[in-house]
This record gives sequence, structure tokens and C-alpha cells, in this order.
Amino acid sequence: MIPDPSPGMSGIFICSECDFKPEGIKKHFQERDALLKKMADVMGEKYPSPPSFDSDFWGGKKPELILEPKEEMNPYLADVFSLVDGNEYAIRDQMLMSASKYLMPLSIGRHRYVYKYAWAIPCKAALEAIAKHSPIVEVGAGSGYWASLLSKVGVDIIAYDIAPENVHLSKKHHRWKWFDVKKGDEKSVAAHSDRALFLCWPPYNEDMAFNCAKQYKGDVILFIGERNGCTGTEEFFDYLDEHFELEDSIELPVWLGLHDALYIYRHKKS
Ligand SMILES: C[S@@+](CC[C@H](N)C(=O)[O-])C[C@H]1O[C@@H](n2cnc3c(N)ncnc32)[C@H](O)[C@@H]1O
Repeated sequence: MIPDPSPGMSGIFICSECDFKPEGIKKHFQERDALLKKMADVMGEKYPSPPSFDSDFWGGKKPELILEPKEEMNPYLADVFSLVDGNEYAIRDQMLMSASKYLMPLSIGRHRYVYKYAWAIPCKAALEAIAKHSPIVEVGAGSGYWASLLSKVGVDIIAYDIAPENVHLSKKHHRWKWFDVKKGDEKSVAAHSDRALFLCWPPYNEDMAFNCAKQYKGDVILFIGERNGCTGTEEFFDYLDEHFELEDSIELPVWLGLHDALYIYRHKKS
């Protein structure tokens, strides 16, 4: 197992200001190489290369593959897949911290693709699990990427976002439009309690998810995000635990260091 980098070094790989121009990318590599050298000095040895997939890294057994064949992937997943040379294990959380080769494309990729597509990376298993709960109302739909994929597989979905035209984001990020996302917020939920409620990466430390859950009088909440992480609030999860039962959870392909998944909750009264 690769030892942790010394305190203060972790996180430096994340390229928050990368401009995607050749000079920016070159600079990032230079910084990364300098960091690797520093880590090697600190550890008194050459910084180890990523473990092979057959090594002890997986504790002797690899996890099951979760992704569909490449030709069936949605464009977002296919783009992520190509960033890691088509290696599914490299877009599974545990592998990433040591797969230094992939850190650069992944850090650039997340920055770019979150705004092009969505915060969570869709895979077929998740889309199929969600589709079973059609009709659906989504709040905080962003670019509408998930809604567009769901709609393509026949799901009846209405999507809302407080800023469907992306007015709140900095100009650097052009958000694409994949679906006809309507302007709306948590108040939109009350009119659609005959639908399952879908929340994908509801904003962190804001009441939106909690307010949606409270307004919602239907049976099923489909939540994608991090429990104990960067989505929603404690009140939201407390409310879910009190009023809903976790029926299922589906693993998703994830970005470096994240642990978002799909959680399917059913109201305890139903
Ligand atoms: C982290 S982004 C996730 C967007 C999208 N679900 C995705 O996965 O790409 C959170 C989204 O919630 C929207 N949002 C924030 N507060 C909201 C509110 N009160 N009602 C509706 N949407 C809201 C933001 O505009 C943003 O698009």
C-alpha cells in the first residue's frame, strides 16, 4: 500500500484553475513532477508507481465491473472512460489516489465535464434503476443531462432548476443545455407528488434538498450524491432517515476522491 503523502500535500493534484490551454497543461505537469519529486525526497525513495491491478491493492480480489460495454456508454461516461484508457477500475474511487498517471486527465476532466454534462456520471445500471420509478420530477437539474438520458429511455420526466440559463455560474463555465429544464425551485415539488422525486447533487450546505423532501408528498425519492459528503445538509439526511426507508443503492462511476452513489428511498407510510 502506498503511504499517505505528508500532511498538506494531499489535494494539490486537483487542478482548480486549469485553463485547458497548452501552457496551462504544461504548467500543471511541471508542478506535478515537482511535487512527486518532493514526495520522493520526503519518503526517501522513488515515489512508487501505481500498483498493478493484480497486486495486493485490491486485497487479492478485484471488485465486480459495473459498467456497460463501451459501445453502449452515454457520451459523458465514454469521455471519462477514454481519460483512463478504458480502464474501469481507474474510475472506481479506491484506485485513484495511487494512479498518478491518471490524476492529470481526471482533474482536468472533472472541471470540464461537470459543466458540460453533470456532477454525477451516469451509467446504465443507475439509469435503469431510476427508470423503474417513472414518472419523475427532478429539481436542481442543471444542464438536464440526466433528464435527457432518462427521457431517451422512455422516462416521463419534468426537470426544474433555479437557474436553467446558468446565470449564477462564472463566465468561464459554459453550461450546455441537454434538456428543456424549466425554471423552478423546491416549491415546484408540491405540484408533482404523483411522481418520484429525483435530486442529483443537490447543493451542499443549502436547504434545497431538505425543503424538497419536506414539500414532497409522494412515495419515492431518488437521491444521487454523497451521504456524509458534499451534497445537501444534515437536516436532509435526518429527514430521509426519519420518514423514508432505504430501498436500494447503486454504485456509480466516480471522480477522484468522491463517493457519490444513487440511493432509492421509499416513504415509510407506503
Ligand atoms: C451541484 S449542481 C447539480 C446540477 C445537476 N443536478 C448535475 O448533476 O449536474 C446544483 C444545482 O442545483 C441548482 N439549485 C440550487 N438551488 C436551487 C433551488 N433552490 N431550487 C432549484 N435548483 C436549485 C443549481 O442551479 C445547480 O444547477
